Amino acid sequence: MEKKDIQMPNSEGYLKELRRSEERKAEIGQFLQHYLPDPAKIVFEAGCGHGHWLTSYAMENSNQMCLGIDLIAGRVDKANQKKEKRDLKNVHFLKAELGEYLEVLPKGITFEAVIFLFPDPWPKARHHKKRMIQSTLLEKLANRMESRGKFYFRTDDRSYFDWTVEHLNESKFWKIQDEADWLHEESTYFQNLMDDYFSVVAEVQ
Ligand SMILES: C[S@@+](CC[C@H](N)C(=O)[O-])C[C@H]1O[C@@H](n2cnc3c(N)ncnc32)[C@H](O)[C@@H]1O
Repeated sequence: MEKKDIQMPNSEGYLKELRRSEERKAEIGQFLQHYLPDPAKIVFEAGCGHGHWLTSYAMENSNQMCLGIDLIAGRVDKANQKKEKRDLKNVHFLKAELGEYLEVLPKGITFEAVIFLFPDPWPKARHHKKRMIQSTLLEKLANRMESRGKFYFRTDDRSYFDWTVEHLNESKFWKIQDEADWLHEESTYFQNLMDDYFSVVAEVQ
């Protein structure tokens, strides 16, 4: 563990971060209550960046409700501009961290599909714990899926691809579908920068 990762419980810094996290989660909760009907089945994109993929998907699937989140406000702003330009009513973008979002997502919101496109690969071994795909996340997502709901993952980083396939194979909640079609093709900002990439699809069990 890196020195800066260590926060002593009850230290001023730790308590401050805890308060900030609670404030962020309250804001996320308010946004979700305001914009999503409850119950609702949605297509969810984690780390949506500039919203290229999800706006394109939402345009072609006007009967589906879509939600994209990203940590970076400027990227969410760009995604919202795309949504407004196309006057899309069935897609929402929110600045949120994945773990915090899942904590406050109302129980009635379930996922028909979850998609990760070019998530940060964190190539150094000591940073692998920062990767979004972890066993605990796969379990949390599985608990939110509609029956036969699918997980879509694409990366240019071979090591992150192998990591994800390994975690899916080890998980009792998911089964890789080698023959499954990709949900929707639309190049993202990062996909446009890459010569090559790898994709995997899994179905909830
Ligand atoms: C490499 S970019 C890919 C963006 C987009 N999917 C694309 O293909 O252009 C990864 C994105 O994931 C976001 N991200 C990273 N960790 C996140 C987290 N824990 N919760 C939400 N978004 C996250 C980053 O802010 C960044 O925009």
